[in-house]
Amino acid sequence: MLGKFIVFEGGEGSGKTTQIKLLQQKLETAGFSVLTTREPGGTNCPIAEKIRQLLKDPTNKEMKPAAEFFLFLASRNQHVEQIVKPAVSAGQIVISDRYFGSSFAYQHFGRGLFDLQTMKNINALAINGAVPDLTILLDIEPTSGLTRVESGANRNNLKDDRFDAEQLEFHEKVRNGYLTLAKTEPNWQVFDANQPPEKLHEQIWAQVQKML
Ligand code: TYD
Repeated sequence: MLGKFIVFEGGEGSGKTTQIKLLQQKLETAGFSVLTTREPGGTNCPIAEKIRQLLKDPTNKEMKPAAEFFLFLASRNQHVEQIVKPAVSAGQIVISDRYFGSSFAYQHFGRGLFDLQTMKNINALAINGAVPDLTILLDIEPTSGLTRVESGANRNNLKDDRFDAEQLEFHEKVRNGYLTLAKTEPNWQVFDANQPPEKLHEQIWAQVQKML
């Protein structure tokens, strides 16, 4: 039996980590085998994790936007081929914290890199058919999200991250980009992340049950 591929997307402080944990617990209780992973990098994927270190290193101030995009794609290709596809083929439910929606939101809408269609074409080469069964967008106002991040919930090394250091305007562009993607990309669902975690989880669970 084939598994499923679920992706969580959202800006900084949107609560993806908490929601992924809650969904994992619910699925496991229901008897599913679940693999949680993330991008850039990935569970059991040391090559992609090395690329993650390069991408997050705050001393890499001179990294060019296109170089950054290609590193995300290199990480993605390794991770999807080595970890995600085999797990789904083996019947597992894979939940990834971020996937190509992040590249479109951050590199295209945030940084203004390439036109979106070009980016989609290049990304298609990297994912080689691995389109998520469901993408859950946790939508939050950047001002609320960044406040959550600063207050420290679930986060570490924050001040050191090249992305968390971006200005509010950048995060506004990312958020609006995500909302645009949710209208045009297949299998995306938007959730209001500015509500209590348990309530949000119930809404997500209802959507996941529909997909299953
Ligand atoms: P991470 O610490 O995983 O952030 P978060 O907890 O917010 O998911 O850092 C990943 C950062 O990389 C995050 O700021 C989003 C960014 N990113 C991109 O810009 N493009 C991408 O394609 C991906 C996967 C992530």
